This record gives sequence, structure tokens and C-alpha cells, in this order.
Amino acid sequence: METGKFRLATIVAFASFFALSAAFVAEDEPATPAEEDEAAVIEAAAGDVAIAEAAEEKSLYERLGIYAIAATVDDLVDRLYVNGTLNANPAVKAVHDRQGQAGFKVLLTAWVVEKTGGPKMYPGLPMDKAHAHLNITDREFDVVMNEAATTFYKFNVPEREFDELMALLERYRPQVVAASK
Ligand code: HEM
Repeated sequence: METGKFRLATIVAFASFFALSAAFVAEDEPATPAEEDEAAVIEAAAGDVAIAEAAEEKSLYERLGIYAIAATVDDLVDRLYVNGTLNANPAVKAVHDRQGQAGFKVLLTAWVVEKTGGPKMYPGLPMDKAHAHLNITDREFDVVMNEAATTFYKFNVPEREFDELMALLERYRPQVVAASK
């Protein structure tokens, strides 16, 4: 990362130097072939800068990768199914008793892939409709957030991606909780 930034800074510095000398020469005389070469170098350097900047703007999905997303969902869903606080809600327990973990993991993985900027592949219900019949409280939502954080720590999700994932989930609190009130 540091090397990338240093390279970017070097390219920008060289591009500025060439741009300044080209502008200075352009005032008095027409461009010589050598100056035209310099202009091509500037253009190429600017292209490099654009590519380097684009590389730093990867989506959360690209930074995490589908294998890490699937692995974290796998771990998190196993935690949620045996969580005593969540199973104290009879509507949630009824779903957990149906033993549909495999299908739920597919749905949640697809949801995370899509919401983090990956391919559009989530085939399930929108969050308000999916949770409307479950009477989910703020406290139960907090419990899910805590289990999610535990999973992300376990898989060493880096700080930036950790914060983005937690913020993404938090944005759906009104749909998940308020839908049943
Ligand atoms: C941001 C947080 C949450 C996300 C992203 C999420 C995601 C999902 C998804 C993708 C589904 C599948 C929808 C479908 O069947 O089409 C689902 C269903 C379900 N969620 Fe959540 N959920 C969240 C919060 C919660 C909370 C706090 C609970 C409380 C325990 C919960 C319990 C359930 C249950 C029990 C189902 C199955 C419903 C059924 O099949 O009848 N979810 N959720």
C-alpha cells in the first residue's frame, strides 16, 4: 500500500514537472518532436494516475471476496441458531426449529454479496417483508449485531471493512425492527 502511494506520488511529481516545462516552452516556439514526446509521457502518466486511483476504489465486495463472505455467514448463522436470547422469541425459535440453515446461509450470502457492491444475486424478500412476522425488538437486533462483530473478529476482518459491514447492517435496523411494531 505504502509503495503504491509512493509510486503514485512519484508519477504525479513527474507529470507536474513535465507539464510545467512544456507550458514554459510553449510560450515562445512551436513544439519540437522531443516536446511532443514529453506530451505523450504526460498523457501516459495521467493515465497511470487514473488507473492507480481506480485500483484504490474497490468495492467492499471486492475487498472482502466471496469466499470470506460465505465463511463469515456460515459462522454467523450457526451462532444465531443456538443463541438463547434470540430463541426466547417464539417466532424466531419456530424458524430455527425448522433446521433450514443451509438455505438461510445461501440467502444471507447472496444478500451480503449484493449489498456490498457485488453481482445482483439476492433472490429473497426485502428486509421489511422478511421480518414483519417475527416481532423483532431493538435488543434482539443488538444481539445479532454482537454476534456479527464476534464473527468478524474471529475471521480478522480488517478495521475499515469491519466498520463498513457493521454500518451496512445497522442501516437495516428500521426495516427489521420497526416492521413488526
Ligand atoms: C441487518 C440485519 C439482518 C439482515 C441483513 C437479515 C437478513 C435476512 C435475510 C436475507 C433473510 C431471508 C429472507 C427470505 O427468506 O427471503 C432473513 C430472514 C430471517 N431473519 Fe433476518 N436479517 C437481519 C436481522 C435479523 C434479526 C435481528 C433477527 C432476529 C432474530 C432475524 C431473524 C430472521 C429470521 C428468523 C428469518 C427467517 C424468516 C422466515 O423464514 O420466516 N433477522 N433475514
